[in-house]
Amino acid sequence: MNWCGVLRGRIRKKEPLKKHTTFKVGGPAEFFFEPEDIRDLKSFISLVKRHGIGFRIIGAGSNILISDKGIKGAVLRLSSQAFKKISFNKTLVRVGAGKPLWELILECRKKGLSGLEFLVGIPGTAGGALLMNAGVKEKNIGDLVRNVTVIDRNGQVKILSLKKLKFGYRKSNLEKFIVLAASLKLVKKDRQAINENIKNMLDYRRRTQDYSYPSAGCVFKNPKGNSAGRLIDLCGLKDKSINGAGVSKIHANFILNLNQAKSSDILRLIQLITNKVRSKFKITLEPEIKIWQ
Ligand code: EPU
Repeated sequence: MNWCGVLRGRIRKKEPLKKHTTFKVGGPAEFFFEPEDIRDLKSFISLVKRHGIGFRIIGAGSNILISDKGIKGAVLRLSSQAFKKISFNKTLVRVGAGKPLWELILECRKKGLSGLEFLVGIPGTAGGALLMNAGVKEKNIGDLVRNVTVIDRNGQVKILSLKKLKFGYRKSNLEKFIVLAASLKLVKKDRQAINENIKNMLDYRRRTQDYSYPSAGCVFKNPKGNSAGRLIDLCGLKDKSINGAGVSKIHANFILNLNQAKSSDILRLIQLITNKVRSKFKITLEPEIKIWQ
């Protein structure tokens, strides 16, 4: 198939996905495409549809475990400038899906806009955060959303108003779309207060979470009224390892890539943790990370 004649963005074949995930694992994508802009994305959608090629979307790769065998079909990443735009209208910020969260938070701070600081330290993109409804215990990005612009798998752009959006604990109804941008409602605050929020969040994360090795943050969702980290810890699994993959000594819901772990090592550790927690507490942990097999 001649991609190059039709598409303007960068297309790579057999692209190692370990380069694009924070776990630093994952085999090759048959095709890896970064569209130049929406027009290019639409050409891609019609091309893959015509040729019956499946595709998946990756953001910053910070909440994903990809098989060592890699991915058949295409992987799409909205990394070009056209998908990282940001604009402000009073206390509303409109942000492109490809914008890294860290940059979004800093640009809002410049405008004296607060509300997103709880996301600091999450190495994701705005699009990924929306899809997963990223957040901390009491706050999620979905709480701030006013509308989301998406493109569907037929290449149709739509603006989804609040009425059409559903955000739950680490989930949303955006899965079937490609998120392009969103409008978020923030509040005015002075920069000093925003800096304080950012500092407190970073301190909290550095104190309680593990950034010493590649990981995907928390691996499991918290069961209702409980903490996955606490349950795994109570099973005595801190420091448990399988080949290069190990449970963090600091936060038991973090699995670390300690030494050239394979995706299969991490998956086996996930299974072992699930079994131990189930047999000790009769609770079945559900992965928070996306698993691409
Ligand atoms: N705990 C342990 N042992 C551990 C880890 C935690 O006993 O190894 C205990 C803590 O002492 C605390 C409780 O479990 O009493 C909860 O732990 P923590 O405050 O660290 O929060 P969490 O529930 O584990 C959640 C989110 C994090 C988010 C923090 C901050 C999930 C699965 N995790 O963690 O999100 O950063 O709250 O609010 O919802 C992520 O989504 O990747 C993530 C890390």
